[in-house]
Amino acid sequence: MVNEQDRVLAMVDIRHELGGNLYHVGGHIGYSVRPSERRKGYATRILAEALKKCKELGITRVLVTCNKDNNIGSAKTILNNGGVEDEAFVEEDGNVVRRFWIKVK
Ligand SMILES: CC(C)(COP(=O)(O)OP(=O)(O)OC[C@H]1O[C@@H](n2cnc3c(N)ncnc32)[C@H](O)[C@@H]1OP(=O)(O)O)[C@@H](O)C(=O)NCCC(=O)NCCS
Repeated sequence: MVNEQDRVLAMVDIRHELGGNLYHVGGHIGYSVRPSERRKGYATRILAEALKKCKELGITRVLVTCNKDNNIGSAKTILNNGGVEDEAFVEEDGNVVRRFWIKVK
């Protein structure tokens, strides 16, 4: 996502398949917003755009994950886009990963 001056505000990546450990950690979509541009709704918007792209790619059930600790902004971004929480995954170091499914209509 860029503004009128082509300054990057946010980025998103889509993983077409849940290979490796992506079913537990990472999921189909990852996103990040430039620190100075946070809390302006950009993550919510870029996730919505990525979900449209997933539909084009034929991914109809999209997994999105976030760490339980210190990532309320990401959890809210997922919930804003219709995320339904599944079982969490606990990594070897004890980090708890929240996992959400979003049905793409
Ligand atoms: C997590 C992240 C993507 C959120 O981006 P953002 O553009 O600030 O998110 P939004 O503005 O769309 O905010 C979504 C909601 O979360 C809330 N929120 C965002 N950051 C928050 C924070 N630090 N503390 C509490 N609430 C927060 C917003 O107020 C908003 O709430 P609302 O829907 O009730 O209005 C951003 O902080 C980031 O890039 N973090 C580093 C990378 C990362 O963690 N990526 C996600 C990996 S799962």
